[in-house]
Amino acid sequence: MKINLANIKKAKMLLNKGDCIAIPTETVYGLAGNAYSEHACKKIYKLKKRPNNNPLIIHYYDTKELAKDCHFNDTFLKLYKKFCPGPITFILDLKKDSQISKIATNKKNTLAVRFPKHPVTRHLLKKLKFPLAAPSANISTKVSAVSSANVKEDFGNKISFVLEGGKSTIGLESTIIDLRNNPKILRLGGLDVTKIQKLLNKKIIVKNNPKKIFTPGQSKLHYSPGIPVRLNIKKIRKDEAYLFLKKMKKTKPNYFFLSKNGNLDEAAKNLYSTLRKIKKFKYKSIAVHKIPNKGLGKTINDRLVRASKL
Ligand code: TXA
Ligand code: MG
Repeated sequence: MKINLANIKKAKMLLNKGDCIAIPTETVYGLAGNAYSEHACKKIYKLKKRPNNNPLIIHYYDTKELAKDCHFNDTFLKLYKKFCPGPITFILDLKKDSQISKIATNKKNTLAVRFPKHPVTRHLLKKLKFPLAAPSANISTKVSAVSSANVKEDFGNKISFVLEGGKSTIGLESTIIDLRNNPKILRLGGLDVTKIQKLLNKKIIVKNNPKKIFTPGQSKLHYSPGIPVRLNIKKIRKDEAYLFLKKMKKTKPNYFFLSKNGNLDEAAKNLYSTLRKIKKFKYKSIAVHKIPNKGLGKTINDRLVRASKL
């Protein structure tokens, strides 16, 4: 992707003065501000209507900058080498003298950190003198944004600038792994857990049971298109949109599909934009046909289950 330097310059200027802007990442767009600035972090919560007790992910260019804020361990370094930059977020111990805003961490002694792969945002991060706090750029509990147009739908002119980066190539939020003790997955995401297991050569616990909320991203209603979602449906109701993994030979106007041939990575990329499209067409609800629970299909199902809690 060709980098528009004038856009990077504008983004940098706005962030330097404590503004929030939207940034593209390979997972979803983020609503970003200076992670060292209390003022900027407060603004993020307000714009997103996000509860104060839900801490933010901090985005870094590389580990050089991160060393000021966190303690590393061997597992982190191993995963970092293999998967970063990329769709994985690490929970690490925060250093006592870290300058990260207490608003962003919700006064926890841990920090969620990520190294996004998107070339535009990497270019920006390299130019900044601070890391970026950035939750997904959507209104709290709603579907994340995977394009600049999605961000504008949610925030209109409430945010001063959306840094253009095209459509997010992965389309699902990062996988969150807690590395403080035995590695634990706190949120399924854009990096398939089996790839992590293979590298670490052990079974990794997935602790994202919505009944035991540890991280608010696990909370019951999330990723909601704003209309009811029903899962594993064989027979739809009147006025319902019908969502399939792959394109049907015989299609109807209310049929939507996530991929041409059933590829789960392609489906992940199209999930949020398709949910948003269906909502725009004013269907009353969405019936989802079965989606295989493997690879990124696991994350797709996780999001749809939470979206179905409306
Ligand atoms: O792909 C992504 O991760 C995107 C892009 C923009 O980077 N960001 C994203 O952020 O999804 P957000 O705020 O929508 O989700 C972050 C999740 C929340 O569920 C939050 O509770 C959790 O990370 N989190 C943040 N800090 C944490 C911490 N110290 N311990 C446990 N969970 C934490
Ligand atoms: Mg989010």
